[in-house]
Amino acid sequence: MSVTVRDATADDVPAVAAIYTHYTLRTTTTFNIEVRTPREWRDRFEQNIVAGPYQLLVAIEGGAVVGYVETQQFRPKPAYRRSLEISVYVAPDLQARGVGSALFTALFARLTDDERFHRAYSIIALPNDASIALHERHGFVHRGTLTEAGFKFDQYLDVAYYERAL
Ligand SMILES: CC(C)(COP(=O)(O)OP(=O)(O)OC[C@H]1O[C@@H](n2cnc3c(N)ncnc32)[C@H](O)[C@@H]1OP(=O)(O)O)[C@@H](O)C(=O)NCCC(=O)NCCS
Repeated sequence: MSVTVRDATADDVPAVAAIYTHYTLRTTTTFNIEVRTPREWRDRFEQNIVAGPYQLLVAIEGGAVVGYVETQQFRPKPAYRRSLEISVYVAPDLQARGVGSALFTALFARLTDDERFHRAYSIIALPNDASIALHERHGFVHRGTLTEAGFKFDQYLDVAYYERAL
């Protein structure tokens, strides 16, 4: 079965939330610990995607959402408005089949001609060989690692900063 990538609609948000909730509760790939409520997901979609300049793309296989990539402003202060933070998550049983790569290909095809944005960043909690491979394949460069910046599931976690010019 082949994967297609398109802009998310409000109807996709629960499926996106289900994927992210898995990683929130069971892994250190995200530093969130609390699950976002359906209301928080809806508000986020309205503010960032519908009203805002950011992207939420979903990968579809067999009619189902099997992964997503989203962008948001890298950090809150206004001078960061041309820098994006990227978040990408693939359904846990469908990793390493090209879904993440399909999402990145579609996202960066759009961002390359988008003059609003100048840099893309991902902050990767280590270890995460799959995420590092995905980012390096799509032109990201490692700019440094913070040691023990995170603490989740009773362990300190290093985070690697990856950057891509847009
Ligand atoms: C990280 C993630 C998004 C990658 O998406 P994916 O669909 O699994 O990856 P793809 O199949 O598109 O593979 C992309 C590249 O990673 C490599 N790769 C995939 N899984 C790998 C693994 N476990 N170890 C090493 N390399 C791996 C692939 O070989 C490919 O490299 P190539 O293009 O040089 O051949 C996905 O695995 C995932 O959702 N992981 C859990 C959540 C997460 O870590 N999100 C990122 C947070 S920063």
